[in-house]
Amino acid sequence: MRLIGRLRNAQRLADRFRTVWPLEEKDMGIKMDVIRVGMLETNCYMIYDEDLKEAIITDPGDNAAFIKECIEERGVTPVAILLTHAHGDHVMAIPELRESYKVPVYIHELDEPMLNNGRFNMSNFSIYLEDSDIRLKGGEELEIGGMKIRVIFTPGHTPGGVCYYFYEAGFMLSGDTMFYRSWGRTDFPGGSETDLMNSLRYLLENVPPETVVYPGHEMATKIADERRMHGYRD
Ligand SMILES: [Fe+2]
Repeated sequence: MRLIGRLRNAQRLADRFRTVWPLEEKDMGIKMDVIRVGMLETNCYMIYDEDLKEAIITDPGDNAAFIKECIEERGVTPVAILLTHAHGDHVMAIPELRESYKVPVYIHELDEPMLNNGRFNMSNFSIYLEDSDIRLKGGEELEIGGMKIRVIFTPGHTPGGVCYYFYEAGFMLSGDTMFYRSWGRTDFPGGSETDLMNSLRYLLENVPPETVVYPGHEMATKIADERRMHGYRD
């Protein structure tokens, strides 16, 4: 009975923690693990250069202990927490990770009021930024852990939603703005269907078609495939 329990547990961990390879064609030594966390199975990504071993953690929505386990297993040092937006299912492990690793949180300034208001972020958790955290406006060019990242402002799902475009590596984190054959909801506080549609159009028309897109939930897609889905004829 105990052995079956252990096997089930191992399977459960394997299901939630798997390595994806964004760079099959361009091997730049960057690795990415997707850690599925929380009831809504948010994709928390751990991205790191395998030589530097400095990790970016994105959208740590829950299960801080499990995220820490993954960090230790890979032997990486977290250097930044990037948030695509402030909804509760993307942020709840922040206090514990920040306490353990003292890393700055990056978030668009328009989502900060949502982060520190549990009613609006739908988690009942209020998380306050510190002076060392980074408020984004969109358009920034970041270099973290040896990786170059462009911040793209994509409001609609929330007022301060952003996508992180790793332009050298050829992939993008789309949060809850763009999903596989779908897009984010706009019926939560601060959501705007018009803004979301404009954000989607911007991504489809400006991010290179070969870019792999890693969303906040469910599976990855490609800009080219989403363009076809939206009726673009290439
Ligand atoms: Fe969300």
